[in-house]
Amino acid sequence: MTSVLTPELSAHWDDADSFTLAGYRRVGGYQALPKALAMQPDQVIGVLKDSALRGRGGAGFPTGVKWGFIPQGDGKPHYLVVNADESEPGACKDMPTLLANPHALVEGIAIAGYAFRASHAFIYVRGEVLHVVRRLQHAVQEAIEAGYLGSKILGTDFSLEVIVHAGAGAYICGEETALLDSLEGYRGQPRLKPPFPAIAGLYACPTVVNNVESIATVPYIINHGAAEFASYGTEKSKGFGLFSLSGHVTRPGQYEAPLGTTLRELLELAGGIRAGHQLKFWTPGGSSTPLFTDQHLDVPLDYESVQAAGSMLGTRSIQLFDDTTCVVRVVLRWIEFYQHESCGKCTPCREGSYWVVQLLDQLEQGTGNESDLDKLLDICDNITGRAFCALGDSIQPSVSSSIKFFRDEYLRHLRHGGCPFNPAASTLFSMDAAR
Ligand SMILES: Cc1cc2nc3c(=O)[nH]c(=O)nc-3n(C[C@H](O)[C@H](O)[C@H](O)COP(=O)(O)O)c2cc1C
Repeated sequence: MTSVLTPELSAHWDDADSFTLAGYRRVGGYQALPKALAMQPDQVIGVLKDSALRGRGGAGFPTGVKWGFIPQGDGKPHYLVVNADESEPGACKDMPTLLANPHALVEGIAIAGYAFRASHAFIYVRGEVLHVVRRLQHAVQEAIEAGYLGSKILGTDFSLEVIVHAGAGAYICGEETALLDSLEGYRGQPRLKPPFPAIAGLYACPTVVNNVESIATVPYIINHGAAEFASYGTEKSKGFGLFSLSGHVTRPGQYEAPLGTTLRELLELAGGIRAGHQLKFWTPGGSSTPLFTDQHLDVPLDYESVQAAGSMLGTRSIQLFDDTTCVVRVVLRWIEFYQHESCGKCTPCREGSYWVVQLLDQLEQGTGNESDLDKLLDICDNITGRAFCALGDSIQPSVSSSIKFFRDEYLRHLRHGGCPFNPAASTLFSMDAAR
């Protein structure tokens, strides 16, 4: 068995009190904050830049560079907004982190706020996950009482107010500008960019929006140094992160490992595909990334290698599907999700997602025809790059990659006059009966 795991964020998740201040402090928590406060704020930004940490929310933008965009001495309040809206199908790393280790995020927030001189930080968390909301509120309260947040943190002149805000449950509110609109009390719809949030974000003030894992990784970097963090990973994708394995795998869960680890290595750790079955296809980065197949087991899971192999690393949400799974049905379910979650602000996403669902539905029921495949690709081409935000761009990848790798499976539906797979053999669609 390979020993690629590098548990850091997830090292103590099994401790009974891992989510409490006492539990976090027992394993070295809150040692990074005084170190950071002893540096100049710009030095802290420098450490983040040197670590080469790239945002863990999907796009992989360098975190230190983002912090450096916040204009200083502008007389305006600066805000940190933590994106804890995690809602993409397959994405499931931030919620366990918040449940088991919320203080890593809270400590990271205090350090980030100090670095780019924020007065307020908001944690925008998906409202349905009430247990997570309560854990976060509790952690923030404990940190205030211990002097790690609030006014004059650890006796310094730095003060930071932290607000836990529960969203109402909309995937679009994970898009950073829709999130900001929602936080301001408006309907969550994306804003035109530029201006980017670093210049005009929350309440038109300079704002950093970062993913939970990005900020929760900051205490490690301050504690161990930029070089130590950058010693993990690959040349351009440094450090480690959570890989979330779900679906037809023997031991689904979070596997914290250096970027560049392969699926073959992760599957060794996770006990392989469920007994008696073969891997058919998988997503390296969630339902918005092009599918991979068993040809891609040895692709290093870093931003560059995954892109070179034709997909995207995204949020490392690895969903695994075995030979019992109908790819047409899976892709249809994903696009139904995007259609449902489309905010309706722009036509390509609102109308395009509707038409893609209609065509996929017909193909899945075996009532379409072969030319529908070209029509599907054409509609997808007309959505990608033309939608207001990246939600629209999430529609094409699974559709076109599934046609590329499994064209014959689409055609089998037409020849068969319906889905040739037995839904009872798949564990994935037990919900179908209720539809
Ligand atoms: C439709 C949509 C949903 C998104 N959902 C999330 C999310 O739940 N969490 C997240 O961190 N980023 C999400 N993003 C990406 C954010 O817009 C943004 O890039 C990210 O929060 C930046 O953080 P990072 O630099 O730390 O990665 C989403 C983007 C889109 C287009």
